Amino acid sequence: TIGTIADQFLFNAFVVGGFVRDLLLRKANIDLDIVVEGDGIAFARKLGQHLGGRVREHERFGTATIILPQDLKIDIATARLEYYEYPAALPTVELSSIKLDLYRRDFTINAMAIQLNPEHFGRLVDFFNSQNDLKQMAIKVLHNLSFVDDPTRIFRAVRFEKRMDFTIARHTERLIRNAVKMNLFGKADDPRFFTELKLLLNEENASPALERLAELGLFPFLWPDLKPHLSIDRRFRHCLVQTQRSIAWFKLLYLTDRYEPWIIYLLTIMSRSSMTVLANFCDRFQLPQRNRTMLLSEKQLADNASHHLSARSELKNSDIFVAFRELHIEGLLYLMAVARKTEVKKAVSAYVTTLRHQAPLLNGDDLKQLGYRPGPPFKKMLEALLLARLDGLTSTRDDEIAFLND
Ligand code: CTP
Repeated sequence: TIGTIADQFLFNAFVVGGFVRDLLLRKANIDLDIVVEGDGIAFARKLGQHLGGRVREHERFGTATIILPQDLKIDIATARLEYYEYPAALPTVELSSIKLDLYRRDFTINAMAIQLNPEHFGRLVDFFNSQNDLKQMAIKVLHNLSFVDDPTRIFRAVRFEKRMDFTIARHTERLIRNAVKMNLFGKADDPRFFTELKLLLNEENASPALERLAELGLFPFLWPDLKPHLSIDRRFRHCLVQTQRSIAWFKLLYLTDRYEPWIIYLLTIMSRSSMTVLANFCDRFQLPQRNRTMLLSEKQLADNASHHLSARSELKNSDIFVAFRELHIEGLLYLMAVARKTEVKKAVSAYVTTLRHQAPLLNGDDLKQLGYRPGPPFKKMLEALLLARLDGLTSTRDDEIAFLND
C-alpha cells in the first residue's frame, strides 16, 4: 500500500532505521519509520485516509504520525532533496536525499533503508556498509561529529550495545570519551537526555548499561553528588543486582501488572541521596511534573516506611499494611532492593503477595443492614475490620460483627 501510494505521488518511499535493523536480525519491531523523497505530510494524509488512521502533522519538521488501532503507529518523514552548488562552472549536484537522511542518523546499524515502491519493493539500501557492522555486532557512528551534533546518542550507543550484546567500536568509543571529556554535557537542558536515560533504564536488564555509563565517565554528569567511587563500588553493584531481582520476581508473579522499571532504578541509584538532590535531578533534566511528583513521593514514602518498620522489634501485618499502603509497586520494589534488614524485605514481599489484596468480609451494605448509618465513620470501621483481619483477630463474618460491637 505504502509503495503504491508513493508511486501515485511519484515519490520514492522507504522504511528506515530500527525496523530494518531488527528485520535483518529477525527481531520483531512494530514501529514503522517511513522516509519519502517528497512532501511527507501530503503523503501521510493520503496514507492515513487509506488505512483509516488518524494523522498528526508536524508542519515545521515535515513529519507526520499515523495512529492506527491497537497502538500501531507509522512515522513519516520527508527527505529533502538538497542541491550542492559548486563554485565556478561545475554543475550543481543533487545528492540523493535518502542517502543524506541516512547519513544524519546515529549509527550505521540504524542507517539502512528498504524501498517500498512496487517496482523496487524490498531493495535494501545500504550506503555505509551497515550489513557488515551488523554481522560484526559493532556500534559505529557515521561521522566524527555525531556526538557533538547530538550527545544523547551516547545513551543510545550504550543501550543498543547492552540490549543486543554488541560492542561499541573502538573509534566510536574514543569519540564518546572525547565528548565526555570536552564536557559537552555541561548542559542537561535537552529533554531528550531524560527520554534516552528512561529508555535505557526500561530495557530488559539495565544494570550492565548503567555500569557501562559509569565506566564511560557519565555518572558525574548524571548524578554529580555520588562520590566517584560510589558510582561503581560493591554496594552500588549489589543494589543494582537486587533491583533487577526484585523486578524479575514481581514480573514472574504478576505478568500483566504495569509498572515503570526506570523509576525503580532511579530510586535505587539515588537511595542515599537527599530529597533535595533528587529534586535537583528532576529540575536539571526537565522531568515532566507527573514523573517528578511520583519519584519524590515514592522516595519519601518508602524511606519513611523503611525507617518506621526497622525501628520495630515485632512486625504485625497491620503495621506493614499501614506503612506501605500509599506506595506504588515502583516504591515497593525499590525498598525491596535497597532495604538492609531482612525483615523489611520480607515485609514488602508479604505486602505485595497477600496483604495488599485483603479486604474485610463485611462491606458497606452489610454495615447499613446492621443499622450503622453511612458517613465518614464507615471508612474507619471498614479499615478497623481490615486491620483486625490482617492480624488474625477475626476470620469470619460473625467475628467481624462481634468486633464492631466491642
Ligand atoms: N535516530 C538518530 N538519532 C537519535 C535518535 C534517533 O539518528 N538521537 C534515528 C535512528 O536511525 C533510529 C531512528 O531515528 O533508528 C528511530 O529512532 P528510535 O525509534 O528512537 O530508534 P529505534 O532504532 O527504532 O530504537 P528502538 O529499537 O529502541 O525503538
